[in-house]
Amino acid sequence: MMKTQVLSPTGEALRRAAELIRSGSVVAFPTETVYGLGANALDDAAVDRIFEAKGRPGDNPLIVHIAEKEELASLVRGEPGPMAERMADAFWPGPLTMILPCSPRIAPSVTAGLGTVGVRLPSHPAARDLIRLSGVPIAAPSANRSGRPSPTLAEHVAEDMDGRIPLILDGGPCRVGLESTVVDMTGEIPRILRPGAVTPEQIRSVCGAGEVDPAVMRPLSEGERPRSPGMKYRHYAPRASLTIFTGSPGPVAERICREYDAAVARSRRALILALTGHLPLYGDREVLTMGPDEKGMAEAVFARLREADALNAEVLFSEGTEETGIGLAVMNRLGRAAAFRIERVPDRPEGTGTCGR
Ligand code: TXA
Ligand code: MG
Repeated sequence: MMKTQVLSPTGEALRRAAELIRSGSVVAFPTETVYGLGANALDDAAVDRIFEAKGRPGDNPLIVHIAEKEELASLVRGEPGPMAERMADAFWPGPLTMILPCSPRIAPSVTAGLGTVGVRLPSHPAARDLIRLSGVPIAAPSANRSGRPSPTLAEHVAEDMDGRIPLILDGGPCRVGLESTVVDMTGEIPRILRPGAVTPEQIRSVCGAGEVDPAVMRPLSEGERPRSPGMKYRHYAPRASLTIFTGSPGPVAERICREYDAAVARSRRALILALTGHLPLYGDREVLTMGPDEKGMAEAVFARLREADALNAEVLFSEGTEETGIGLAVMNRLGRAAAFRIERVPDRPEGTGTCGR
């Protein structure tokens, strides 16, 4: 087994990380979204090591990370085009990945033979420094074992990757907490394949148009071929069975309390995921808090799913949120973790029953 070092991303550690990338090795590094597992995107053997470390299916392509906008042109076939330029100007550096026709320079294992490549310019200074010092574009998926929730702390990376990679750069908690918005830019109008902190509303205001792939908020049907291979894999899944309830806070809490109490009565280890402000609605039941609002949910959701596993939860009940703004991304990740078991709780016609006890 390999010894895994954890270092904070200062001068010496960054130089060592860049040296590892140049020599064909794999390094975990922080970005503003989640931690990435990086390798030289121009080196097929190095990229294979990412798939090995993650246990990732070979038909699921990786995102290529760059440090400057000017590097985009060298990774795509033909011109990126005026719409992609506008998107880059509006959202880079930041949590946006654009899918464009692929240059033959990119290692074939990066793109899974799709003929397109996802490119992202992250805003995290350590990520950009690492790319600059390496002198090559860095292919990087999220640094979790395949199927596990994405890592938002170096500790999460260590849980999944200890002994499998030589180095983790520890930049502390990731600010956004959900992976980048993936947008297919190969058609007439941008098509969102994976929602993130760059919202559909923002994309429409920059491009005048933008659609959300229908597969974002539903499971794929039998034999359906997704536009983004990542859509077909079970993702972000805690070991517990998760159900999400949406609606007004009072009725949602009441419903969750009933489900929780019924599970506990059957001796099942149950946990609730809820916004901090709703805590009083759950009495003395066991709640993992997801922060004050949907931005807080985005930041917290993967860490809470890992925590639920660590606490051996068997059943999880989570509050949902509106599918607008970053809420769409939160509901996409929660939804997939729940195999899209999402129930809408109707408002009560009258009264304000409570489930506190
Ligand atoms: O925020 C992020 O994007 C993080 C950090 C590390 O940058 N990376 C990340 O990578 O989330 P990963 O591999 O976990 O997710 C990449 C997603 C997958 O769902 C994959 O199927 C999709 O992007 N993807 C990559 N290249 C694609 C392509 N050429 N066409 C369609 N989908 C693609
Ligand atoms: Mg991932």
